[in-house]
Amino acid sequence: MPRLFVLLRVFAACAALSTATVFAAAAPLVEPATEQKITALLGQMTLEEKVGQLTQDSSSFDLTGPAPKDAKPRDRYERIRRGAVGSMLNVCGVAAVREAQRLALENSRLKIPMIFGYDVIHGYRTCFPVPLGEAASWNLTAIEATAHIAAMEAAASGLNWTFAPMVDIARDARWGRVMEGAGEDPYLGGLIAAARVRGFQGADLKAPDAIAACAKHFAGYGFAEAGRDYNVVDISEQTLRNVVLPPFKAAVDAGAATLMNSFNEIGGLPATANAHILRDILKGEWGFNGFVVSDWQSIGELRAHGVARDLAAAAQLAITAGSDMDMEARAYGDHLVGLVHSGVVPEALVDDAVRRVLRVKFAVGLFEDPFRHCDLAREKAVVGNPAFLATARDVARKSIVLLKNDGGLLPLSPALKKIAVIGPLAADKETPLGGWRGQALPDSAVSLLEGVKAAAGPATKIVYAEGAKLLSQPRDFAHETVLNTTDRSGFPAAVAAARSSDLVIMAVGEDAVQTGEARSQADIGLKGLQEELLHAVYAVNKRVVVVLMNGRPLTIPWVADHVPAIVEAWHLGSEAGHGIADVLFGRYNPSGRLPISFPRAVGQVPIYYNHKSTGRPLDPEGKVFWSHYTDVANEPQYPFGFGLSYTTFAYSDLRLGASTFSAGGSLPVAVTVTNTGKVAGTETVQLYVRDLVGSVTRPVKELKGFRQITLQPGEAREVTFTLTAADLAFYTARGVWEAEPGEFQVFVGASSRDAKSAEFVLR
Ligand code: NOJ
Repeated sequence: MPRLFVLLRVFAACAALSTATVFAAAAPLVEPATEQKITALLGQMTLEEKVGQLTQDSSSFDLTGPAPKDAKPRDRYERIRRGAVGSMLNVCGVAAVREAQRLALENSRLKIPMIFGYDVIHGYRTCFPVPLGEAASWNLTAIEATAHIAAMEAAASGLNWTFAPMVDIARDARWGRVMEGAGEDPYLGGLIAAARVRGFQGADLKAPDAIAACAKHFAGYGFAEAGRDYNVVDISEQTLRNVVLPPFKAAVDAGAATLMNSFNEIGGLPATANAHILRDILKGEWGFNGFVVSDWQSIGELRAHGVARDLAAAAQLAITAGSDMDMEARAYGDHLVGLVHSGVVPEALVDDAVRRVLRVKFAVGLFEDPFRHCDLAREKAVVGNPAFLATARDVARKSIVLLKNDGGLLPLSPALKKIAVIGPLAADKETPLGGWRGQALPDSAVSLLEGVKAAAGPATKIVYAEGAKLLSQPRDFAHETVLNTTDRSGFPAAVAAARSSDLVIMAVGEDAVQTGEARSQADIGLKGLQEELLHAVYAVNKRVVVVLMNGRPLTIPWVADHVPAIVEAWHLGSEAGHGIADVLFGRYNPSGRLPISFPRAVGQVPIYYNHKSTGRPLDPEGKVFWSHYTDVANEPQYPFGFGLSYTTFAYSDLRLGASTFSAGGSLPVAVTVTNTGKVAGTETVQLYVRDLVGSVTRPVKELKGFRQITLQPGEAREVTFTLTAADLAFYTARGVWEAEPGEFQVFVGASSRDAKSAEFVLR
């Protein structure tokens, strides 16, 4: 593709994405003509070649799990040559992909192209906020836009497929992978899942800037007991259907071409061997036509789970349950042929899995041009194109949540003469890239310090003191994190800087290596010496703005009680520092809302707004025997949906179009929102419902709609919603997805905590 044309596409995409949702629904995967081609191809394939299509190898470099013993590149080349590898992961860049694809095409008998996948989680080279942070924008257009840019870069780098979005609902901040998802809510999670799928895949998977999506991890991975990664999950069918599965369903409905298994068991059966979720629900009830890839060696792990005696038994369980492609376990490659020959596994099961894999390969255009994404000039022009940074900055600032702003400390006054920027993360150019940073260049994020220096006026002096390091050793994603708990040598300089300044911006939170896969934590407070440093700084200057950089909700009770201003800035990606400075200096009025509850104490987790009532919800007389803690409130520090603005909004006149409606009808709901402050601002108007009596217990609140509106000072606007029976449906005691007639409450307001309510009846 000519370079000029590529650049025009880049700029056109950036312009279009900044305005509106640009993509229609994805084209269906199943097309009669293609199915005929697949049937013909299957007819020519040996069993060995079929199993090859179900086998995914990593390049010899990876970080996400142990590599198989024969991981020498030479062995892998040989396997590719003989058609024993249908897909590769962790092969990045046009040169590498081209070479690997060439090995497959020039040597294998049927010359079936491999499909190349990679974890493009929140950007490829240009890095966007970690998914949890981006979810805080509640801005589906922006989320779709960043996924699309990630797809453009990844596709230009030779890839066809991303292992994203992660759509696991997470209620437990101890789990390090809360960072990769959209938080605790199935409704918001479903909308974001669909937006990300649209962003990656576009309307046409064959487009040069599209890659196949992979909704993961199917299913229940976020419900690991005690928040410990890979741990057992034991949830009811109710929780599975009502909470865990809706974002997957949304991703499938948006056309996601693939799904990935999860490592966990669910109630005794590992997900990788779980026919109930894979065959009954996904491929049966939902009619999913794409393929399911295992997670890294999750088929092999069926042995450690204790449901398979050996790798052959694991292969049998997985293929029978509906896991189509084996990522790195070699279970299918080494055993599936034998299992079919011995009659243990019907060949029809293998054929179905192969058909699904080939379907996706056809859909992404690999059969038309196996080197379709292998253009060096295009790679050079697109990957890391500076035109993408404007979107990265815009999404970064939209993702920031203002948690506290006592006395209007923010936005920062231009009259400030001296600002101290303090903290272990203040000048860090790595941590804002977060976990799973794709091919982001090392040290490539704009640090908070750089952002503040660039934004401050000439009259404001900026001084910097690290204060203390967060880690005591260099950052290392492949090893356990070692915190600094002893070196306080930087404290005096930090305290001196704070004392002599008008205001302190203090950057604390988590290093990028403290979040993500295998980074579960039993203590989710400010680690290392951070809080001690903060106390020392606060002792000499109370005008402190804490900027939190983290991939999970943190417990910050002292900070919440003492520090006047708190800005939740997540790990915001390449443009983090500029995005944060835009908010600090009032160039952008913060509009983010929490997609997950922030607990007061780790003992409260799992904590989530859409909990059940229990039989003892509250004793108004404050006696002992109700469902509560005796040492901490039930409520979170900051609830789901919460976030402040530099202006204020008032809600009035909640009104329903009727007091009852029937299943075929609808119910208009309206509220008036007024900007009662002095600056323009964006409010996220949230609508929740409660089903007062159900055939099974129902949550006390469930998000069912939201609208983002921008109001000028003094401006009032009527915001309307339309409820239908579909919004009230759930997986009932009858085992069907339906709405049950009866009484409901509707809540409309600024968060899951602050809302006006009314009642209605579904007839
Ligand atoms: C393991 C992770 O669980 C999964 O999310 C990821 O896609 C694979 N490794 C491949 O890197």
